Amino acid sequence: MAYETIETRVEGGKVGVIALNRPKQLNALNNQLMDELGAALKAFDADEAIGCMIVTGSEKAFAAGADIGAMAGYSFADVYKGDYITRNWETIRTIRKPVIAAVSGFALGGGCELAMMCDFIIAADNAKFGQPEIKLGIIPGAGGTQRLPRAVGKSKAMDMALTARMMDATEAERAGLVSRVVPLDKMMDEALAAALTICDFSQVAVMAAKEAVNRSFESGLADGIMFERRMFHAMFATSDQKEGMDAFVNKRKAQFNHQ
Ligand code: CAA
Repeated sequence: MAYETIETRVEGGKVGVIALNRPKQLNALNNQLMDELGAALKAFDADEAIGCMIVTGSEKAFAAGADIGAMAGYSFADVYKGDYITRNWETIRTIRKPVIAAVSGFALGGGCELAMMCDFIIAADNAKFGQPEIKLGIIPGAGGTQRLPRAVGKSKAMDMALTARMMDATEAERAGLVSRVVPLDKMMDEALAAALTICDFSQVAVMAAKEAVNRSFESGLADGIMFERRMFHAMFATSDQKEGMDAFVNKRKAQFNHQ
């Protein structure tokens, strides 16, 4: 499929890379981009050869938010009847293989929210995160008020949502928003290495781990633990569990067949 607002490629035969590509608008997220991003993620998710995905932007901007020009004239009826955000932004939540956000430059508003919808964030040292919607007379609308406090706690989330202050990469790592900070010129290498590491593990176990960690966001502790326990038990039905443990016991490298 030919895309106009994103670029896709496969690295190492196993990693699907999606680069947001509206450079003149600092990758502002419009409907076309979100449709194309959703289609690309779904295509990689369905591809047997792909084990992990990376969503990235440009050096200057991962994404500077939802496209303000496109939104400026919307009425309540437009966004409510059109199911704005829910209709195409949440496709990423249905993706079952891991999705890493490789963030350099601005990740603001919907850009920060998109990064948080990925499974984890690897940030370049020039990354800046923020929820500046308040400056536009609105509030975050793609999960920012919910995922940000879960990631960084209430105080920092309130600070960012109410004052529009940006957080740099160092603060984002300290606060737990991002998993690693690396020099800008090493960011894609680092993300790719992480993705390739994931691809070499049992795909069944990787998908189960993603599902179980995500459950911690959506349930109480007792339900989450029960879900994890059942998924853990289910792993013993896979041939990858036999292979992984046999390889350890016999001091050799495991060769998973993702079954
Ligand atoms: N939507 C549309 N266009 C955008 C944009 C956005 N979110 N962010 C930047 N652009 C455009 C600018 O209009 C500008 O276009 P022109 O060259 O045609 O004037 C171009 O990208 C470059 O931007 P700047 O000249 O402003 O670049 P800068 O380096 O001076 O500043 C910035 C960079 C701080 C990111 C600034 O562009 C900015 O503040 N952008 C808006 C950030 C924002 O408010 N994001 C939240 C959007 S609302 C949202 O996301 C809702 C939601 O939760 C779903």
